[in-house]
Amino acid sequence: MKTIIEPFRIKVVEPIRMTTPEQRETALREAGLNVFNLRAEDIIVDLLTDSGTGAMSSEQWAGVMRGDESYAGARSFYRFLDRVQEITGFEHVLPTHQGRASERILFEVVGGPGKVVPNNNHFDTTRANVEHSGAKAVDLVVDVGKDPRSLDPFKGNLDVAKLESCFKEVGAENIPLVMVTVTNNSGGGQPVSLQNIRELRKVCDRYKTPLFLDACRFAENAYFIKQRELGQGERSVAEIVREMFDLADGATISAKKDGLVNIGGLLLLRDSELTTQARNLLILTEGFPTYGGLAGRDLEAIAQGLEEVLHEDYLTYRIRSTEYLGEKLREVGVQIVEPPGGHAIYVDAKAFCPHIPPAEFPGQAVVCAMYRRGGIRACEIGSVMFGADEPPSMELVRLAIPRRTYTQSHIDYVIEVLAGVHAERESLSGLRIVEEPPALRHFTARFEEIRGGN
Ligand code: F0G
Repeated sequence: MKTIIEPFRIKVVEPIRMTTPEQRETALREAGLNVFNLRAEDIIVDLLTDSGTGAMSSEQWAGVMRGDESYAGARSFYRFLDRVQEITGFEHVLPTHQGRASERILFEVVGGPGKVVPNNNHFDTTRANVEHSGAKAVDLVVDVGKDPRSLDPFKGNLDVAKLESCFKEVGAENIPLVMVTVTNNSGGGQPVSLQNIRELRKVCDRYKTPLFLDACRFAENAYFIKQRELGQGERSVAEIVREMFDLADGATISAKKDGLVNIGGLLLLRDSELTTQARNLLILTEGFPTYGGLAGRDLEAIAQGLEEVLHEDYLTYRIRSTEYLGEKLREVGVQIVEPPGGHAIYVDAKAFCPHIPPAEFPGQAVVCAMYRRGGIRACEIGSVMFGADEPPSMELVRLAIPRRTYTQSHIDYVIEVLAGVHAERESLSGLRIVEEPPALRHFTARFEEIRGGN
């Protein structure tokens, strides 16, 4: 295979501050062994998230200058609206400041005590917003989705049989909507097949229940469908994207991912009654419906980003460069969630640190070691993030790749650092939490090592 190069040249650069191991040790101690508490300037390669961390194109920056900042009816809003309608086919488009604002509005309208919301896997903010409304969030991903070694092409699928049982158990009247997250972030960035979305549509039709997409990474999901699903290889990604949205009654989107921008979100709806209720809440906390928590320039950047993300040379590079990281880690003996996801590689921390039980946060131990050794920031997705009540099925460390931001040599450096940590993994110590907030503890918890330094 020929090398797939970054399909862009660099026009603006941001220096990275190099740090010494001693500086990093001090910074990590001060952060309570929680990399969310670090200052970004103390980081060499930041793989904490792919959300809002990407680079915008020259056309997006040109759009920023063209932004119309009128309070109501701005030209930028109509450009944004046209683009979103063209790509997704949704009539009602509400701009929000980011994905979780769309979730908060949606679940304030449809959630509430006694309600149950099924999803393949809720992302943490989605779960938190469902639960904040008093409803219950249930995860119904297919069983292969929980097996890090399975090479199934669509491990993000929502299990249709489990969904049927859920409807029978709790009753359609208590299920305000079914959600499916594309790609399935909490389940390893794995895609959902078109076939699965079609089947979910049928079940939802039978129970007269709306189907919603959490469509943060809709373009990456569509590219996987094109690559992997029988009969889809000849279609354009844009066509596949359109069919995904056509199958749904609504969608929440964080534009910080496949919108290729640093801030922004969308709530897409078909139902007019629901739109009226959502729009009233939007005005209450986000803003007037033609800007909804964003500036006119942000709407321009999103309109342009949504077009660029569908370029197939971009997606080829994007998915291949993530896969490259996965392949190289596999070669040095690091067990990852297979097959490589779209926006991130997920390291299996249970396999990495078999000597650290889940209660002592093996993922967090790997995260700390990567920072100490190479100034790399990654994100634990395991017992720290989800284990406050019961341990999750996987202990993962996510290496999320910001879009269009790092080059292959940055990624090669990440591979070297992780290979080094892996070679010395027996010396890693488990952790205990010394301070934690009541919800979403991974953001602010502080830790200490159970046995002296790693
Ligand atoms: N849904 C999914 C699947 C997400 O991955 C995220 C954010 C959200 C909703 C919420 O969007 O951040 O704009 O409010 N994921 C980021 C991440 C934070 O690091 O995976 P938001």
